Amino acid sequence: MLAGIITVSDRASRGDYEDQSGPALRDTLKERGWQIGAEAIIPDDLTRIQETIRSFSSQGCGLILTTGGTGISERDVTPEAIRGIMRVEIPGFGETMRFSSLQTTPNAILSRALAAVVERSLVVALPGKPAGAVECFVSVCGAIDHSVKLAQRVPSSC
Ligand code: MTE
Repeated sequence: MLAGIITVSDRASRGDYEDQSGPALRDTLKERGWQIGAEAIIPDDLTRIQETIRSFSSQGCGLILTTGGTGISERDVTPEAIRGIMRVEIPGFGETMRFSSLQTTPNAILSRALAAVVERSLVVALPGKPAGAVECFVSVCGAIDHSVKLAQRVPSSC
């Protein structure tokens, strides 16, 4: 199955620092048998986030991971961007990611991580730090395959 990875970060997109979250997620996905169909590093811009998700979805990425922009600073707009184009949100993903990360840091309460169905893709919005992004993804990994199949309208039994 094909996955896309979008790093959402003003500073990484300007080249102020090297993106580590995207590559960490790429390794994690590959270890689990996913093929990486598309990758991008974009600024914290609502329209760019929406355009990139739509583009990856039309390229056949059944799973799209975003990393970054889930906090509460003024530039953090990833959840708003996704909610603006989603068909349905799946609250259990956000609940599970926050619950799991709270075992590591009380600051996990600040994360607005979420998952939603956009067109025929499952979009999972993860925190920006590499460890946080991977930890959150791993905590929901068991439900990914089934959710992607439902998003793609492929018959799948629970
Ligand atoms: N979750 C994990 N597992 N590890 C972390 O270090 N950082 C938190 C939270 N979730 C963190 C985490 C912090 S400090 C913030 S501000 C939010 O994720 C949002 O991060 P983002 O704005 O980079 O997406």
